[in-house]
Amino acid sequence: MKSKLPDTGITIFSVMSSLAKEYDAINLSQGFPEFDCDPRLLKLYEHYLKNGYNQYAPMPGVSELRNALSKKIEKVFQKKIDPDTNITITAGATQAIYTAIATVVNPGDEVIMFDPSYDCYDPAVRLNGGVPIHLNLKFPDFAIPLDALKENLSERTKLIIINSPHNPTGAIISAEELRALEELCIQFDCYLISDEVYEHIYFDGLRHKSVIEYPELFKRSFVTFSFGKTFHATGWKLGYCVAPEHLTQEFRKIHQYLVFSCNTPAQMALADYIETESYVELPAFFEKKRDLFLNAISTSQLKPLPCSGTYFQLLSYEGISPKKDTDYAVELTKEHKVASIPISVFYEDGSDHKVLRFCFAKNDDTLLKAAEILCKI
Ligand SMILES: Cc1ncc(COP(=O)(O)O)c(C=O)c1O
Repeated sequence: MKSKLPDTGITIFSVMSSLAKEYDAINLSQGFPEFDCDPRLLKLYEHYLKNGYNQYAPMPGVSELRNALSKKIEKVFQKKIDPDTNITITAGATQAIYTAIATVVNPGDEVIMFDPSYDCYDPAVRLNGGVPIHLNLKFPDFAIPLDALKENLSERTKLIIINSPHNPTGAIISAEELRALEELCIQFDCYLISDEVYEHIYFDGLRHKSVIEYPELFKRSFVTFSFGKTFHATGWKLGYCVAPEHLTQEFRKIHQYLVFSCNTPAQMALADYIETESYVELPAFFEKKRDLFLNAISTSQLKPLPCSGTYFQLLSYEGISPKKDTDYAVELTKEHKVASIPISVFYEDGSDHKVLRFCFAKNDDTLLKAAEILCKI
């Protein structure tokens, strides 16, 4: 058989997690919380499981959840979003992103994405016959390279993909960058996917800016979210896509044949849980974890880069080792028993800034133990 993705191997997350297991290392590599979801959310799930909510949900998602999301979006982003025509519940953000790419990309279309980029964008573009164009975010602040973007936009560009708060760097897109993207998307008549799975994890008085808040940009956008990231429930694989009606219609034509619909009792539980504004504590909760980790490594030779959001902290090991980041991440796991993610794997051109990504969505004890080791290096 001819492979459709000949250059694609196993994701770095699986590779580093297995290595962590094999060497009994503290696993700060893969991006999932070490702690469980709120017991109140689990109780709600149990309630719906035991009370007959075990058959197919409607294709776009249960109306209770879409209504709750519409209210939440109005509270958080001050925008009215129609629950029936603008919101589709998906099997995680990954499926929302794949479906949005499949909705707009035809063979030969160019899709611009910014590296380091989350690893599900590029293969989804290729599988749909598109041509990924990778542009590097500016180092070290990871801002959008607007000049390079302008040079690469053309009538062949069908789609731009952005992600904020940004995995793996923790950068947050600015209002100026969003306004520039709005102008360029209109000028070049292209679509946008805005991956906002870390919408509730931002720090230092900053706020997450959503594409939903930019009406002209939103008209041509798919905005994707994940309940997994927000409610410490990555294993539920539930997310949603917010898009204008004409795009949602086309999105759902594909969504219905990819998954048809998603887990019913989990959707019902999330609908009740969101109504209680269960997301407002999140920025402070994760800011405390980031600060605990940063304080604990303050005497380490590994130097932190700024982190404005997400639950990832980048640490530079420049000055400790000349090794490639992929090799140094392996050395750190095998010899020092702390697993991280090398960020060069998120660059198409393999750019290596000697930086590793550490996930701090972990129990305080775990973070302190890892920090103690890192301080001794
Ligand atoms: C930037 C980004 N986008 C999308 C996803 C996928 O989210 P989900 O687990 O809801 O599919 C992740 C998960 O790590 C992510 O970090």
